[in-house]
Amino acid sequence: MMRGPSGALVLITLQWSGVKTFYIETFGCQMNAHDSEKVVGTLLSQGYQQVPTPDEAELVFYNTCSIRDKAEQKVFHRLDQFKRNGKGKTFAVLGCVAQQEGEKIFEKAPHVSLVCGSASYNKLPELLVQLETGGRRVTGLSLDTEDTFETPFARRDNPHRAYLTIIEGCDKSCAYCVVPFTRGPERSRTGESVVAEARELAKMGYTEVQLLGQNVNSYRDPSPAGWDFAALLRQVAEKSGLRRVRFTTSHPRDFVKDIVDAIDENPVLCNHVHLPVQSGSTRILDAMQRLYTREEYMKRIEWMKAATRPIAITTDIIVGFPGETEEDLEATLDLLAQVRYDAIFGFKYSRRPNTPALALDDQIPEEEKTRRLAIVLEKQRAIQIEQNAAYVGTIEDCLVEGFNKATGQWIGRTSQHKTLNFLRPGSGQDILGQYVDVRVTRAGPNSLAGECVN
Ligand code: 5AD
Ligand code: SF4
Repeated sequence: MMRGPSGALVLITLQWSGVKTFYIETFGCQMNAHDSEKVVGTLLSQGYQQVPTPDEAELVFYNTCSIRDKAEQKVFHRLDQFKRNGKGKTFAVLGCVAQQEGEKIFEKAPHVSLVCGSASYNKLPELLVQLETGGRRVTGLSLDTEDTFETPFARRDNPHRAYLTIIEGCDKSCAYCVVPFTRGPERSRTGESVVAEARELAKMGYTEVQLLGQNVNSYRDPSPAGWDFAALLRQVAEKSGLRRVRFTTSHPRDFVKDIVDAIDENPVLCNHVHLPVQSGSTRILDAMQRLYTREEYMKRIEWMKAATRPIAITTDIIVGFPGETEEDLEATLDLLAQVRYDAIFGFKYSRRPNTPALALDDQIPEEEKTRRLAIVLEKQRAIQIEQNAAYVGTIEDCLVEGFNKATGQWIGRTSQHKTLNFLRPGSGQDILGQYVDVRVTRAGPNSLAGECVN
């Protein structure tokens, strides 16, 4: 495409050459972020051109999240902004809100022309043709699929770390969660295609890959080889040529000891596990239909603590699930003290459409949830200060992910997924994307600071 001397000229060039412009904004988890990378690649391969703002775009895509109420509201807020001044543009809602709300979106936001859930992304090229030929209410909403969204066109945003989806959907039914309704049943990719893509990424210059799945460790190779998740981890670590392989998110029920053994044996596998517990109370875990008790969860923590490599452990906590008592909250606080997580993500329970927990009595008032969350986060903050202080004096291998102009510090990421900001005195060399050794000199609750030693 020719670059014109002014915006207007560029637009004329676009119309002459028939190139359609699109803008995409993504909300939600890494799965969504990577889905968007694949959607962008698909659109580019169809001859569309990406632009950085919705104002410049003919097609506006929102890839949405509905995990909590606030996340869901964001897309309607965005769409509202274009209710009056969106003439001439085509709006598309993708992702979890699309799947959850379906055709209701056309009622709420009549300027939307395409609603498509993640299980239908393979059909995007056809759906785009329908849009191009004047379709007004085009949908891709079937969850009845055995396919995964595999494309050679993914347009990855991060130049160093690549996402790689190995399993889509979710077969669990946690009482609070929309994901089984928005992403459909579990579908694993073949082990061979995962290893091939990981190799390809290494050849392209990526050094780190993050394997993705809602329940990444429920992975089961559908080909005759039949690898389980630990086997896949070993294969990717040994055969890809990558320097770092991480994965998220693991479900405790399917978290077997062999996964810890694989990490312990192979330094390519990063020593970090995100293992959402949600609550420290077995009574609440049962009400949440999490399929494990506190004791069973703690067994998995013990496997990790017994490993030779120091495995960082992070988690998700929900406070204020219906029926949660002060005693249940105490159990969660006690679990934090026992596990001593490296980081946690804390959430207030949010009522979600279709989910079993909607029908439960004894909903907790909003202010009370806020109070409980503050207590949990405060307790964890104190733990993180102590945990991180133990790193002062150690030397950590860091992938350099950025540079902070304001502080003059490089931003590094350790294998344990900790942020380590560091100085590299006496060298103006660009080290972005490289691996360096950094001595930790200071520690805060959320990051480490240090000095490069090479
Ligand atoms: N309310 C609050 N938090 C939720 N999560 C999932 N569903 C809900 C909900 N309805 C949290 C869980 C999950 C993380 C991704 O989001 O902690 O692990
Ligand atoms: Fe949000 Fe869950 Fe959908 Fe990810 S899978 S975008 S977290 S609702």
